[in-house]
Amino acid sequence: MAMTVRAPGRVNLMGEHTDYSGGLVLPAAIDRSVRLECDAGGDRILLTSDRFDDPVDVSATGEDAPPSGWGRYVAAVAAELDLLGRPGVGLSGKVTSDLPDGAGLSSSAALEVGVALALCAAADFALDPMGVARAAQRAEHRAVGVPSGIMDQAASLLGRADHAVLLDCGSLEHRLVPLPADLALLIVDSGVSRRLEDSGYGRRRAELEEALGVLGGAAPSAVGPDEAAELAAAAGLGDVPSRRLRHVVTENARVRAVEAELTAPGGPDPGRLGRLFAEGHASLRDDFEVSIPELDLLVELAVDSDAVAARMTGGGFGGAIVALVERERVAEVGAAVTAAYEGRTGRTAAVHVCRAADGACLT
Ligand code: GLA
Repeated sequence: MAMTVRAPGRVNLMGEHTDYSGGLVLPAAIDRSVRLECDAGGDRILLTSDRFDDPVDVSATGEDAPPSGWGRYVAAVAAELDLLGRPGVGLSGKVTSDLPDGAGLSSSAALEVGVALALCAAADFALDPMGVARAAQRAEHRAVGVPSGIMDQAASLLGRADHAVLLDCGSLEHRLVPLPADLALLIVDSGVSRRLEDSGYGRRRAELEEALGVLGGAAPSAVGPDEAAELAAAAGLGDVPSRRLRHVVTENARVRAVEAELTAPGGPDPGRLGRLFAEGHASLRDDFEVSIPELDLLVELAVDSDAVAARMTGGGFGGAIVALVERERVAEVGAAVTAAYEGRTGRTAAVHVCRAADGACLT
């Protein structure tokens, strides 16, 4: 059986570092994806890539994962699906991608989701989209040991053209949020490559877990910022965990506020949207401490160049910013930001003007 699977990357508009504590996120799948063209059959997964020299050759049940390289993700997905009872039918074919790696646009999640859909189709094994997302999320942990949340894989599966997805990572309930037609998604990659395996991601997660103890079991998305601050003070929580907690609690509130702006009759108020993004960025920079000077600079330059709203996006420690920009001005804003960035840092930033796209599917 010949098949083609497309799995998009994602950009997150609000709700950063909230997914692994069951909070709210607002990502959109983007029109940049990983594509698999393959034939089902045999008991091995044989894939080549236009990005990486080494071809992948692993068993269809994933037990012979290579120690490094992109084959780890492929084998990990196969192993997670094997645990769910997928018959061990293999694949052979090629993977191509127009999704930049290391830019915080979830290229690894897109690969995991694409491989998962292809393996399910190859074996006629049915899983609902959240089942695929969870298997792919577990595969990320298995492959590289990063304790990431569900956002990236869920966004790659649930996205819809011209919409963001509001996902409650606690209940996994989700709904589509229309994006204004006159605003383009401008993604500017700092050129500082981010690999979550080497970043402080796991440390931030552990710090947050310590802080969440003061909520006495309440979901952070159900606690207001003032209440969280009182509980932190009453428990004598230290400065660092208090700031980690404040980020998560205020960030959940910002997801709701951005949804309200985007769905307001008559469209969003640009000033309010801009302030919410600015507060989100400041919170990631100062309270969660996952930004880097290059991302701070790109946000400042985007706002100075008349972006409606801008913030870092993704896990941080490198990667990209996302800006909402009036569609007819997006090329001009992108060019102004990259020129000023290069002048100030000597680095070249890559610009991606994206649209929110449909989630992963077999085509
Ligand atoms: C990475 C992780 C996600 C999420 C973001 C931060 O992209 O894979 O699960 O935690 O960072 O919001």
